[in-house]
Amino acid sequence: MGGLFWNKVFAAVIATALVVFGINELSHKLINSEQPETPGFAVVIESASDDTAVAEIVKEVSLAELLSGANASSGERVAKKCTACHTFEKDGANKIGPALWNVVGRDAAAVDGFKYSSALSASGLNWGFENLNAFLKKPKELVPGTSMSFIGLKKAKDRANFMLWLREKSDAPISLPAFAAPVVEATSDVMQDVADEASLLIEAASDGVANVVETASELAEKIVATDE
Ligand code: HEC
Repeated sequence: MGGLFWNKVFAAVIATALVVFGINELSHKLINSEQPETPGFAVVIESASDDTAVAEIVKEVSLAELLSGANASSGERVAKKCTACHTFEKDGANKIGPALWNVVGRDAAAVDGFKYSSALSASGLNWGFENLNAFLKKPKELVPGTSMSFIGLKKAKDRANFMLWLREKSDAPISLPAFAAPVVEATSDVMQDVADEASLLIEAASDGVANVVETASELAEKIVATDE
């Protein structure tokens, strides 16, 4: 065994060590990706002074999210549950319930000539999406004593579809709530993607290392064999 043999073995070992070290560094860079300085949530949470406010915001975000994924033509079907008592078209008449043209964003109990319950009249509510959503879910829970005898729309999706449709029944539809959630989701999706990519990379890399080590030891064996 000449000096050349040991040189070769040494070189193979160094090369392998370098590759292993490099992959290790790379994987740490990819996996331990630093927390972003401003995480997706921060903007929202910072503006909230207490837990209730945070809970409110979370609720709003999820309603906004529901609305953003809602479908107005499915909402039209839901409206059939109301037409025994309500009209939705412009200049529609009051029936058992008040006319609902322009209702989204309007103050509660504001239709002239309709005899509202004192409960609704005194509620001080405005029919923004949040209140409307709660009223449609369980009228008597949001406004105890309301004269609207309707059990409510159980499914959040139905309510969202319906509200999206109802919003258009207006001279000037109010804007939809800003939908902040996708930003947060996108951020975590991206993080997830990066993590997935990283683990694939590492898998591939460790396969690679195994190959390099194998090749190196085969090489070493060959060298030993030729040297003998
Ligand atoms: C059985 C009759 C009936 C049905 C069905 C009904 N409502 Fe009502 N609705 C009423 C009555 C009566 C009121 C007035 C409530 C009060 O004064 O407390 C009302 C009030 C409302 C209000 C408040 C309007 C305002 O001017 O403040 C909204 C919004 C509303 N209904 C939506 C709906 C929707 C949407 C449906 C169907 C999913 C529905 N209602 C089904 C009878 C009904």
